[in-house]
Amino acid sequence: MNLKRIAITGAAGQIAYSLLFRLASGDLLGPHQPIALHLLDLPPFEEALKGVRMELEDSVFPLLKEIKIGSQPEALFEGVHYAFLIGAKPRGPGMERKDLLADNGKIFVEQGKALNRSASPDVRVLVVGNPCNTNCLIAMHHAPDLPRNHFHAMTRLDQNRGLFQLAKKANVDLREVTHLAIWGNHSATQVPDFHNAKIHGAPADKKLDRKWLETEFISTIQQRGAAVIAARGKSSAASAAQAALGAMKALLEPTPHGEWFSSAVYSKSNPYGIDENLVFSFPCRSKGRGDFEIVQGLAIDAFLKEKLALTEKELIEERDLVRGLLK
Ligand code: NAD
Ligand code: LMR
Repeated sequence: MNLKRIAITGAAGQIAYSLLFRLASGDLLGPHQPIALHLLDLPPFEEALKGVRMELEDSVFPLLKEIKIGSQPEALFEGVHYAFLIGAKPRGPGMERKDLLADNGKIFVEQGKALNRSASPDVRVLVVGNPCNTNCLIAMHHAPDLPRNHFHAMTRLDQNRGLFQLAKKANVDLREVTHLAIWGNHSATQVPDFHNAKIHGAPADKKLDRKWLETEFISTIQQRGAAVIAARGKSSAASAAQAALGAMKALLEPTPHGEWFSSAVYSKSNPYGIDENLVFSFPCRSKGRGDFEIVQGLAIDAFLKEKLALTEKELIEERDLVRGLLK
């Protein structure tokens, strides 16, 4: 079987430390697919990458055939089929994710260009580094030869957080909560869609108190990243790695009939009237092998509509802030 090449940026960081060993054990591509890991970090972290490589070697993963490490994006992205763009500064207490744009935005100019020049033309890219939606917009802008629908920003963690809170409140098994879409930005304006979510196959707002859903539920998900930072002193890592795996896997496997998952994707020609030049989280359905469509025709009630307008506005403002990086 041909090797599949997976790039991970920020490979000396904390999310990568939770993700790499799972990739190497076949959690993404299954127990028969040999893989190569391409680990990218900044030059001062090359020594740390050597340590990560030693640990990967010492874990004797039979599927892991090759490990490349380095700090040159173009060299490290050579021929990659999957790219997890994690490398970026995390926020600290009291910051919003968009406060990172000035520092992190430019990383995605360089990495978009490098992907364009050296990745496999069918590469699928998941941007995790914050603010991930706008960073993803920047990366795709600088990769004009790659299809824009090969780029995603991660809202899977928000989806997972929402599933947990709904299951807990309804006192049901996690598997009974389905169809939870996150709309918009991976930020405090994101919209966890309780109206179209289902508990035991019925709309969540028929099973749970609407007032709780509109207030406590939404704000818990919007603020969950900040709550983790306040408690841990560092941003989420293992749950982010779990979400990154889930997000990429959801693209590769056909979505079961009638279901959907959340991913922030290029908004061109979207069926919900959202500005057409954003990376916006929508309910998506995969046809397998990385091809997906935005789910059409979901009911958008007045409450949801108002919230969608706020998250769209925030993404437009972020885009305005990085105008200089989108030339
Ligand atoms: P971390 O500080 O532990 O690791 C980040 C790593 O990225 C560091 O090793 C750093 O040297 C590296 N890096 C920085 N610039 C780089 C560049 N230009 N090229 C390659 N590597 C570079 O941080 P972390 O906890 O792993 O978080 C990484 C990012 O992911 C942060 O921006 C964080 O906010 C974001 N995040 C997003 C989500 C999400 O749901 N989308 C969830 C959690 C964290
Ligand atoms: C998260 O949602 O946990 C991450 O985006 C980290 C953060 O800054 O909140």
